[in-house]
Amino acid sequence: MSTYLLEMKGIVKAFAGVPALNGIDIRIRPGECLGLCGENGAGKSTLMKVLSAVYPHGTWGGEILWDGKPLEAHSIQDSEAAGIVIIHQELTLVPDLSVAENIFMGHELTLPGGRMNYPAMFHRAEALLRDLKVPDINVALPVSQYGGGYQQLIEIAKALNKQARLLILDEPSSALTRSEIEVLLGVLRDLKAKGVACVYISHKLDEVAAVCDTIAVIRDGKHIATTAMADMDVNRIITQMVGREMSNLFPREPHAVGEVLFEARHITCYDVDNPRRKRVDDISFSLRRGEILGIAGLVGAGRTELVSALFGAYPGRHEGEVWLDGQQIDTRTPLKSIRAGLCMVPEDRKRHGIIPDLGVGQNITLAVLENFSHLTRINAEQELGSVQNEIQRMHLKTATPFLPITSLSGGNQQKAVLAKMLLTQPRVLILDEPTRGVDVGAKYEIYKLMGALAGQGVAIIMVSSELAEVLGVSDRVLVIGEGQLRGDFINQNLTQEQLLAAAISPPLAQDPHHGSRA
Ligand SMILES: Nc1ncnc2c1ncn2[C@@H]1O[C@H](COP(=O)(O)OP(=O)(O)OP(=O)(O)O)[C@@H](O)[C@H]1O
Ligand SMILES: [Mg+2]
Repeated sequence: MSTYLLEMKGIVKAFAGVPALNGIDIRIRPGECLGLCGENGAGKSTLMKVLSAVYPHGTWGGEILWDGKPLEAHSIQDSEAAGIVIIHQELTLVPDLSVAENIFMGHELTLPGGRMNYPAMFHRAEALLRDLKVPDINVALPVSQYGGGYQQLIEIAKALNKQARLLILDEPSSALTRSEIEVLLGVLRDLKAKGVACVYISHKLDEVAAVCDTIAVIRDGKHIATTAMADMDVNRIITQMVGREMSNLFPREPHAVGEVLFEARHITCYDVDNPRRKRVDDISFSLRRGEILGIAGLVGAGRTELVSALFGAYPGRHEGEVWLDGQQIDTRTPLKSIRAGLCMVPEDRKRHGIIPDLGVGQNITLAVLENFSHLTRINAEQELGSVQNEIQRMHLKTATPFLPITSLSGGNQQKAVLAKMLLTQPRVLILDEPTRGVDVGAKYEIYKLMGALAGQGVAIIMVSSELAEVLGVSDRVLVIGEGQLRGDFINQNLTQEQLLAAAISPPLAQDPHHGSRA
């Protein structure tokens, strides 16, 4: 018998004649964690969809050996029956079903007679979430009640509930905070100790380095190398991924910070379901022309609520004023905000960022269609020109602008959302987790772009859970904790420890002029 649990040999897969995988070989032993690394569009998710039979046997070339024997899975049910469980990059939860129903989807526990055994499912769901250290979650409530980070953890619980021999995690941590990631990595280590193998895909390479035993790098659908982690470090992974050395991950474009441009005054947001609970509690701050303001904090701290309220996209009741150039502006809806000069790239691109049925190009020009319309007609040539500019500027990897946006790799969808918002030429740009799921090379491009925009006088607000990123690109950093402003720092000699300490410290007394403090 083979010592390998899994061998994938010479895997090839094409979409409409365009190759996505060009002969990839990977092997995994029981209890081994393989890091699968590569730039956006390299083919990681596609390879894992081949393995989990999202693309059934016969729709790709090559061979899969499972326990040394050929595996010909025709459906996800087949691959799950073999013990292959995948957590997809894009969440697959059903928003209107309860947390417990989602966790047990397709594997419902029933009573004799066939009725659903809700008490048993609730009990088990709670236990799974407790193992993941998810605080105060009501498993009977619909999933839609919970934000991105929670949903990610629910998705993980759902996978852990199945008896996996090989667990595939495709970007599981992009919506998680440091401490949640630590818990997840701990869970993976326990599974490894029990002999469960895993494939871990993440653009957060420090996580990959922390948990993986081996690293397989693919580039443009080709296998570059598989190396023991003991012989690797993050820099070498990056070099293999991008095919060249990258010494500086955070380019700083020189940009001058000017006078106050934007002010948020006394922003308060109430919980959608519990109108007495404040998610954001009286936060005020100002932002200068050309300033990049990072917003750090733990998941659930109220960062997304705060910025969506500024942009008129917060679904619940909220209060406060938004000022631009010394005048109060109407930001009650996203459209009004865009007209006033604000723009936001949302955190959850699947729900708020893209229109799945439209093409890449149509998605990019969605917010500025009026620029190309003359009376009732749209100047398609002009529109296409604009789209092609953006595709080039963002290094967006797509065969043509006419592909459905959902066929792009995760990171490239994110770039398309960014391109769409930049076309509106905002004066204040709000980015909520702008580099989630984006590869190192593309992150570099996004930071450069942010610096260049700041150089043109655009004020930028960036919410990010990656403290290194916050410190790498911001001029100033606000720290939010439990809906309150806990820190306001000029980014000079600032450390991750200081930001973390602020996140759990008592709230800052807000001065009425909300100037920045060091
Ligand atoms: N359904 C599809 N139709 C057409 N092209 C596709 C489809 N799915 C994937 N592709 C293409 O295959 C290539 C590999 O995509 P894949 O999603 O596997 O990349 P990835 O390595 O997972 O990237 P990321 O890090 O951004 O998630 C990309 O060029 C993508 O556009
Ligand atoms: Mg992917």
